[in-house]
Amino acid sequence: MGLKRNHGQSSQEDSGSGSSVLIRWLIRRDMDEVLAIERGSFEYPWTEEEFLCCLRQRNCIGTVAERDHRIVGFMIYELHQSMLRILNFAVSPDHRREGIGRQMVQRLIDKLSQQRRREIVLEVRETNLAAQLFFGACRFRALSVLRNHYDDTLEDAYYMRYSLRDSSERYKPSNRLRQFDADAA
Ligand SMILES: CC(C)(COP(=O)(O)OP(=O)(O)OC[C@H]1O[C@@H](n2cnc3c(N)ncnc32)[C@H](O)[C@@H]1OP(=O)(O)O)[C@@H](O)C(=O)NCCC(=O)NCCS
Repeated sequence: MGLKRNHGQSSQEDSGSGSSVLIRWLIRRDMDEVLAIERGSFEYPWTEEEFLCCLRQRNCIGTVAERDHRIVGFMIYELHQSMLRILNFAVSPDHRREGIGRQMVQRLIDKLSQQRRREIVLEVRETNLAAQLFFGACRFRALSVLRNHYDDTLEDAYYMRYSLRDSSERYKPSNRLRQFDADAA
């Protein structure tokens, strides 16, 4: 897909730290701020061309989290038939541990329930402990190790997945009345 001028799919959410966060589609003029966050977040940052090339794909979506008219986070993900795949995800170093990343993940989880895609997957570098802990806190689970996954280093990656199936199993409401009947019989 191309970068969209449309501000659709936006929503205002309480960040839990005072002012609220707006999550909306990434547009062309956000790129400078997105690139600054990218460079402040990764040792091997994507170039602008890499972002644009990715976002030109029909199944690729970019969104930003905005607070007080400043971009404080972004995510790039692909839509597949049965899952979403996160390709890039970062929160501004100045705004970490304020719940912004969690709100961005929640936005993706909400899409699962709307569109019947049941999973979100991503690869995390083995050295990126903060991201592993973050996605773990968002109920992603590491499924496998991808050996020598990257071109730029010899690092392995953890393949992580959030599954609606796992969370619905964990939170499946029990039928207490039926249990009561069974106990009483
Ligand atoms: C990983 C990242 C996106 C987290 O974003 P964030 O907005 O700071 O995360 P949140 O504030 O929503 O954190 C939610 C929970 O995740 C966990 N968490 C987040 N960052 C953590 C860290 N550095 N260490 C330990 N746990 C962490 C905590 O449980 C946290 O809850 P708490 O703050 O109440 O303890 C952010 O650190 C980042 O942009 N890192 C660099 C880019 C990156 O690694 N992206 C992922 C590529 S796979």
